[in-house]
Parts: sequence; structure tokens; C-alpha cells
Amino acid sequence: MAKAAPAQPFLTDVKTLRARARKHIEDGAVTAGYQADRATVIKLLNEALATELVCILRYKRHYFMASGINADAVAQEFLQHATEEQGHADLIAARIVQLKGEPDFNPEGLAMRSHAEYVEGDSLVDMIKEDLVAERIAIESYGEMIRYIGDKDISTRRMLEGILAMEEEHADDLSSLLEGLAR
Ligand SMILES: [Fe+2]
Ligand SMILES: [Fe+2]
Repeated sequence: MAKAAPAQPFLTDVKTLRARARKHIEDGAVTAGYQADRATVIKLLNEALATELVCILRYKRHYFMASGINADAVAQEFLQHATEEQGHADLIAARIVQLKGEPDFNPEGLAMRSHAEYVEGDSLVDMIKEDLVAERIAIESYGEMIRYIGDKDISTRRMLEGILAMEEEHADDLSSLLEGLAR
């Protein structure tokens, strides 16, 4: 009797996968199948973390200054953005740890590591404009990171895509505020 044709070597067989998972158990979420350059991804994520931290500080400053000049609607928008940037920073820091890296929260050199700048702004319009510039920079750099990662680290990419979508909303909110003030 002819032997049954061997199963298609479609995916790495389960036994091999299990053995691999056990062998590198100390690597946590990072498996041998991880296809990205881990050190580079961690470095990129730390730059994104610095960017988010600088954005939190800038939005907080703008929130308190806008509150002081009775621009409540705009102040609330700044506060909401600050809170959302904090959420992004937390997601990124958690992912760095999953990748066996260390999130860099060192205040020294923070502004240098960040893509976006900390600009105080003299008026409400200046503040909104500076925030819009920072959001546009964030949008560019998240887009670049997503394209770099491609299919090599899908979880990181999906996280970054979620953040990118929110930065786009932020930019949109800010341009609406500017239009509203110009009217
Ligand atoms: Fe953000
Ligand atoms: Fe943002």
C-alpha cells in the first residue's frame, strides 16, 4: 500500500514551535519567530516614547495657560490631548518591556530624543499652531516607523497604527480650533 503523502510543510510543525517556545521561555513575548531587528525597534519605540512625553508636557503647559486666560473650550481640548498622549506613552513603554527592552524615562536629554519640540507659545493661536506642528511631526514619524516595521512585528505595527490614527484626529481637532478662532 502506498504511503500517505506527507502533510504539507505549510507551517512550522506544532512540536517544533512548542520546543522553540520552551527553549526561549525567558524571552517572554519575543519568540524565535520574531522577524524584526529587536534592538532597532526598541530604539525607535524609545524615540516615540520621548516624543509622547514631550507632547504631554507641552499640552499640560498649554492647558494651564489657556485656563488662565478663560479659553475653556480650547483648554479642555489641550487636556484631552495630554491624557491621550499619556495613554500612548504607556502603551509604548509596555511594548518596549514586552520586547525585553527598557523604556527610557530619563528627563535628561528628553527633548533631544523627542521628534517633536516643546514650544510654549505666546498666545492661544500660537499654542494651537505649535501643537499642530508637533502632531504633524508625530504623524510623519509614526508613518515611517510603520513602513519600516512592515510585517516583521505585527503587534508593534498594530499598536503604532492605533496611535497614528489618534494623532491624525488630534491634528484635525487643532485645525478646527484654528478655523474657529479665525472666524
Ligand atoms: Fe500621541
Ligand atoms: Fe497627539
